[in-house]
Amino acid sequence: MILNYKHSASVVVLVIVAVCCSCEAQRAKAVARAKVEGPGFSVLARSAKQCQALCNKQPACDAANFEITTHKCRIFTRCSPTVILQRSSKYMHFTKRPIINESGYKYHAESDSCLKLMEKVTDFAEADALCKGQNGRLVSITDPSINKEAAELLKASKAQFAWIGLFDNRVEGNPQLSDGRRVSDTKFFPVGEQQARLDRSRNCWALSDSGEWAEHSCKNRTQFSICQIVSY
Ligand SMILES: *[C@@H]1O[C@H](CO)[C@@H](O)[C@H](O)[C@H]1NC(C)=O
Ligand SMILES: *[C@@H]1O[C@H](CO)[C@@H](O)[C@H](O)[C@H]1NC(C)=O
Repeated sequence: MILNYKHSASVVVLVIVAVCCSCEAQRAKAVARAKVEGPGFSVLARSAKQCQALCNKQPACDAANFEITTHKCRIFTRCSPTVILQRSSKYMHFTKRPIINESGYKYHAESDSCLKLMEKVTDFAEADALCKGQNGRLVSITDPSINKEAAELLKASKAQFAWIGLFDNRVEGNPQLSDGRRVSDTKFFPVGEQQARLDRSRNCWALSDSGEWAEHSCKNRTQFSICQIVSY
């Protein structure tokens, strides 16, 4: 009897461990001992670990900040800007994606990323640097849903074109995305014709507000850009 009881108890423990491991996939990483501020709400948590778990459970939570002395757990809203106020061992900061420091990012569920149209006219290299400076990259358009979302951002603005994370300065005809893949990997390439694809003077791609892609000269300083901040 006793042996049986012990046996079933250890099975229960194993099951709990298995469930916990599977939820660790979308875990907010502990990134800093710092006080961080931003839009969201505060709750009380027993420990830093519980504060982290509360964020993990909330799909709309991007980050959480735990104050060790008061047990205040601040849950930050997805895709909203946060700011590191001060480094301090009294706080633990957890986050699911790099820190966002500007408002205006919009959540795109399928890619679990935050998107923003940067209303600054730049060439391709400047656009690339702009997004990297925001802890992001020029958007990788990998399927119809993110293409539609990005085109909607453009439609809502005065611009017709924006730089996206796509270039073919190395391999002409099979452009590379900013996530490192090529359009031949994602099988998503909404360009009817081979429009300018083999033109060696045009190697950087732009999205139009109608959702089409066009290849422009990388030095063309006439358009905005779309940045993307992905989760870890
Ligand atoms: C965000 O960070 C970048 C790079 O550090 C900086 O250039 C930009 O001005 C910052 N934006 C805000 C609103 O602080
Ligand atoms: C420059 O960009 C504009 C759109 O902003 C486009 O109409 C034009 O064809 C582009 N020129 C080159 C050489 O890429």
